[in-house]
Amino acid sequence: MSNATPSRNTEDTLVLRRPDDWHVHLRDGSMLELVADLTARQFARAIVMPNLTPPVTTVAAAAAYRERILAALPPGRDFTPLMTAYLTDSIAADEIASGFESGVFTACKLYPANATTNSAHGVTDVRNLHGVLERMQAIGMPLLVHGEVTTPEVDIFDREAVFIERVLAPLLEDFPGLKVVLEHITTRDAVAFVEAGPDRLAATITAHHLRLDRNDLFVGGLRPHAYCLPVVKRRQHKEALRAAAASGNPKFFLGTDTAPHQRQDKESACGCAGIFSAPFAIESYAETFEELGALDRLEAFASEFGPRFYGLPLNEGTITLRREHNPVPDSIQGDGFTLVPFHAGESLSWRLD
Ligand code: NCD
Ligand code: ZN
Repeated sequence: MSNATPSRNTEDTLVLRRPDDWHVHLRDGSMLELVADLTARQFARAIVMPNLTPPVTTVAAAAAYRERILAALPPGRDFTPLMTAYLTDSIAADEIASGFESGVFTACKLYPANATTNSAHGVTDVRNLHGVLERMQAIGMPLLVHGEVTTPEVDIFDREAVFIERVLAPLLEDFPGLKVVLEHITTRDAVAFVEAGPDRLAATITAHHLRLDRNDLFVGGLRPHAYCLPVVKRRQHKEALRAAAASGNPKFFLGTDTAPHQRQDKESACGCAGIFSAPFAIESYAETFEELGALDRLEAFASEFGPRFYGLPLNEGTITLRREHNPVPDSIQGDGFTLVPFHAGESLSWRLD
């Protein structure tokens, strides 16, 4: 494993190969400019989720969205959005394959229908995807999975573990060459499954699932800004995720799942799921890795394992984090909307230069 070069790092300075974010929601319209820049100032590339309204299901829609993202960035920002196709019951294998072959699509995203925000068009049964998955396997196109069953009789805290058993394990057997990323894992069951699985199976881990457990949803009252999907789990699951992230196992890499919703949509009688972690994402991961005594493994997790899995080159540039008191604002003002960032009101101990 290649650690951050010790000579560039001191007690107070951390230089990392420029990282990538393998799972973001950049949104669209008035939010796009603000949230895209917050991601691009840290990350060289990001896997962009397709759950817009309507979802990104065609090559043309993904190409147009990519243009809007690039146009929203300030001049000179070096950032590559990696686009994904939103799988539906009726999506055509040819559309997926032509998008992949022309370099518009990097991967496909599987949302079980109604699992999360804007997933009403998601897949009702993976058996409907047989032809699409066969083609993806043939062309080497990764499948990114929101791993939760949505059957109402399954307890929300068990949905990931049940998905693994009922859907993911059989899918990996049926498609023995398909590359799969289990996104934003939240349980020790997921950690164990990914560790035991083949090399073509990997997982992303968010900054917030490394820091929050289900008690955090209820400290002193209901905490809508700690609510995301998959929902945060018991403390022992968080501990398993922390161990996996810090382990140096290349199957686990960075994906923030930053998912902004306007403040009033979070602080509501029916609050939206999603944590807006983009503003201080790399600092949050640094805080966690330092707590785990694993700062020397942050670079591989953030900047090496993801590109290796996707078969992409490592980034050339670097970012620098300095040990500095870094207070996180209570809110961030956009043009006509307010967002509450992850760590709002707290102070982090690293600051991105
Ligand atoms: C995401 C969103 O708001 O788009 N929300 C979330 O809690 N992560 C959807 C998702 O990735 O599940
Ligand atoms: Zn997501």
